[in-house]
Amino acid sequence: MCGIAGYIGNLDASSVLLVALERLKYRGYDSAGIATQENGELTIGKSAGRLKELQDIYDEQGSFGNCGIAHTRWATHGTPSTENAHPHCNTDQSIAVVHNGIIENHERLRRQLTDQGAIFQSQTDSEIIPHLLATYYDGDPIKAVQACIKELEGSYAFAAIFADHENRIIVARHGSPLLIGRGPHAMMLASDIPALLPHAHDVCVLEEGQIADIRNDSVEIVDADSNNVDPAFKKIEINFNEVSKGEYDSFMAKEIAEQPEVVQRIIDDRISNGALADIAVEVDLSQIQHVVFLACGTSWHAALLGKRFLEHYARIHVEVDISSEYRYRNPIAAGGTLVVAISQSGETADTLASLRLARSMFMPVVSLVNVVDSSIARESEGALPLLCGPEIGVASTKAYTGQLTALFLFALQMAKAKGRLTAEQEKEAIDSLLPIPELVAGTLKNAEEHVLDAVEVLAPANATVFLGRGGEHATALEGALKLKEIAYVHATGYPAGEFKHGPIALVTNQLPVVCIAPQGAMHDKMLSNLEEVRARQGRIIGVGQSSDRDLKNLSDHLFPVDLAGNELLQPLLSILPLQRYSYHVARRRDCDVDQPRNLAKSVTVE
Ligand code: AGP
Repeated sequence: MCGIAGYIGNLDASSVLLVALERLKYRGYDSAGIATQENGELTIGKSAGRLKELQDIYDEQGSFGNCGIAHTRWATHGTPSTENAHPHCNTDQSIAVVHNGIIENHERLRRQLTDQGAIFQSQTDSEIIPHLLATYYDGDPIKAVQACIKELEGSYAFAAIFADHENRIIVARHGSPLLIGRGPHAMMLASDIPALLPHAHDVCVLEEGQIADIRNDSVEIVDADSNNVDPAFKKIEINFNEVSKGEYDSFMAKEIAEQPEVVQRIIDDRISNGALADIAVEVDLSQIQHVVFLACGTSWHAALLGKRFLEHYARIHVEVDISSEYRYRNPIAAGGTLVVAISQSGETADTLASLRLARSMFMPVVSLVNVVDSSIARESEGALPLLCGPEIGVASTKAYTGQLTALFLFALQMAKAKGRLTAEQEKEAIDSLLPIPELVAGTLKNAEEHVLDAVEVLAPANATVFLGRGGEHATALEGALKLKEIAYVHATGYPAGEFKHGPIALVTNQLPVVCIAPQGAMHDKMLSNLEEVRARQGRIIGVGQSSDRDLKNLSDHLFPVDLAGNELLQPLLSILPLQRYSYHVARRRDCDVDQPRNLAKSVTVE
């Protein structure tokens, strides 16, 4: 949950690295720091708080050298403070290290190193690494790193620079992502591709257990057995605009607005000439009897809808599991089971660990990921790319609607592979999906003024309940998560039928209750739930069609959503005004919508 970067080139390293950190701060932003190397010395600058504090330090102290490493932190061990900010150094400050991951045996190593005379400056687990490197360093940095990682338990992607090695960065990875970038005038490293731009044009993914020796115009890689590995560079496909806000005031606003084109892009990729295109997975879907979805957070909400799609079209049993539960539950490996890991980042530690557990039990795994070179993608039998483009805002929006689109098409694929989807049914299902991009755009446009009216009145509420039935239960959960994570409002999503079994005691005339009640099988049941809330003076936000007079009469505010021709796809539209509602409430409450407190975009720790 941190971001690391490194640079060797013809420019001032600290200036390049400050920009790289800006691109990585969605991974954590409690504190940040840079170490540069020049003339046999290391210079360290670091600060708690926002990146601007670090920028101010470099504006004042200037910079030293064309080689450096940098870090932006999401605190795991030790409070967010300057002392705990990376880079960390050994006692005589001849080695500097930035680290992403968790060193699980740090306490024993800290005691051992302290007994050997190491003087620790921080409370972090990461500071172990430079001190341990120092105990093995005899002038050869690669040998020191090889010896050091033999003692580390846990996850790491770290970069180290040595005062007496000019323009050289040594990196190692185990369990956390690390990319190496190459450009005409620079070599770089980073936790994620956006931080490599624009200096690097090619990227190489460092694999598990590998160590790389990066110099100003080359890189040498060795594997865990010290065998040389040819770096597999490939062209970086992401362009600079995809990782900038453009005319938007936040990445979240931009990514919400991108949803029509994201849905369209996935449709275009998975449908050709009006029929399903084949998907490249190394699994015979016709033999699958049972699917287990593994995911966290928003991706888990998408999985709840994936279950509905699959059970409707393919008529197979589907389980949806939260990754952090699955991995510790000693699950059953039933024959004919396919595990599907859903992850925007492709680096979520709990989902990666669950995927590894499933594979160790000989269950095939397919993943649905947005970051194609991610660990989850690489460790699956097949990865279905989400094609959403980089999602920088911590709150997942376009990835969610992208996941729903991809899961709908995956369900059709599965049904077709099992001979349970006639050509007519396939056409009908595809025809119901084709209008969705336009309906997404229309709903975003039409709902905005109604959302703003509600925000005007309800933004100060410190609690909110979201109710939905059927597929809209997932919408209720997702709408609540958005409001929690970016506006810090105590928001809860419930299946509406459950509300009377206790939670309805929460209702007062101060409590906004969002009732997701589009036309469809559950509509009238939802109106009954609205009546129950209304009878207790709850403040009702209805989500449904603007033509629905009953809903309008029962609601204090109505968020209009277009009607999806296929009820299964309605949640793709129902979530849209709730994304905008959470965005505006957060803005009204002066919250940072792109970097909410305590969070990071990629949860690469347990
Ligand atoms: C979503 O808004 C949150 N940022 C979070 O719940 C996220 O969905 C979760 O951490 C899973 O991330 P992943 O999709 O990258 O695995």
